[in-house]
Amino acid sequence: MTTVTTLLTNISTLVTNDPALGEGPLGLVHNAAVIVEDDRIAWVGPAKKARAHATDTVHDADGRAVVPGFVDSHSHLVFAGDRTAEFNARMSGQPYKAGGIRTTVAATRAATDAELSANVDRYLTEALRQGTTTLETKSGYGLTVHDEARALRIAAEHTDEVTYLGAHIVSPDYADDPAAYVDLVTGEMLDACAPHARWIDVFCEKGAFDGDQARAVLTAGKARGLLPRIHANQLSYGPGVQLAVELDAASADHCTHLTDADVDALANSGTVATLLPGAEFSTRAEWPDARRLLDAGATVALSTDCNPGSSFTSSMPFCIALAVRDMGMTPDEALWAATAGGAAALRRTDVGRVAPGARADLALLDAPSHVHLAYRPGVPLVSAVWRAGVRVGT
Ligand code: NIG
Ligand code: FE
Repeated sequence: MTTVTTLLTNISTLVTNDPALGEGPLGLVHNAAVIVEDDRIAWVGPAKKARAHATDTVHDADGRAVVPGFVDSHSHLVFAGDRTAEFNARMSGQPYKAGGIRTTVAATRAATDAELSANVDRYLTEALRQGTTTLETKSGYGLTVHDEARALRIAAEHTDEVTYLGAHIVSPDYADDPAAYVDLVTGEMLDACAPHARWIDVFCEKGAFDGDQARAVLTAGKARGLLPRIHANQLSYGPGVQLAVELDAASADHCTHLTDADVDALANSGTVATLLPGAEFSTRAEWPDARRLLDAGATVALSTDCNPGSSFTSSMPFCIALAVRDMGMTPDEALWAATAGGAAALRRTDVGRVAPGARADLALLDAPSHVHLAYRPGVPLVSAVWRAGVRVGT
């Protein structure tokens, strides 16, 4: 096999996320170049030094910025239908409740495999165009053995980062017997789902699953070789974050309502706090306090939570802008959280950075610096994307 090499040069500001390669925690290199060999980054450095390397193709960034492809570590893309009416009602004053998930469960069960697959493809492509090169997605709108397993099978056709979320809410079929539903999720449903997933997740919240039920779900998943992550402390204070830390979950997601003990626990753990500002935006809820987590020393990731109910956005740049404007993050911290932070939340070291050996996932911005992602909110700044060294359509 012959090696294909590409030089990307005249980059005004390159974010590497490797402090050994450049300035500050983002490892910024100014007037930079990157050499890609097949699907990997081969070399990173000043553009003037890149001239010594002969490559098959040259792409001139023309004084624009390059960042690592975004790592969206939390989405729910296997669904059918939408919840426009619910959103409209909410924006007219009604509160967000976990029960809205049932509407999407009914639509998802009624959809064909082809319809579900086309939906995943559509939102994945939408995300890719906005710079997302790694995306996790979940089941959770099937809630039967058959529908959860097929959701995961379909998700796995599109991404390696697949999460079993049979414990999204208690299935409406088990409304009178939640304990029997937990038995199903940790028994027959887990058996059918585990072969298609890397992760297990549970929505630990009033109206969904309590701490004991969440522990039972994650422990059963771990015993089957799945790695835990959790929807925790989204709508109210609760045991989710402490449970995440206790079980060494890769990530506790949402983290909107945290006690000081929760913040301390995260800061002293290997569990990433994944913040999902699209959800607070779309439910008009209180923002998570990223500043408090960062100041305590916790690792923070940003993700979209893309789903038809609480956060129907696939845009990582939008989440970055919200996190900077409303959650106390600096533009540098938000960029890191949306790339290296997401990689940490997926326990990946091959993505989320632009350094020799990493997968060649790059987003070229139509801007001189990554700061513009927050400075110019809502503007489609991602002008070219490479995933595993291949230029993908924008
Ligand atoms: O992450 N919190 C639970 N699950 C989703 C909401 C799903 C829905 O409303 O359909 C979330 O926000
Ligand atoms: Fe979610």
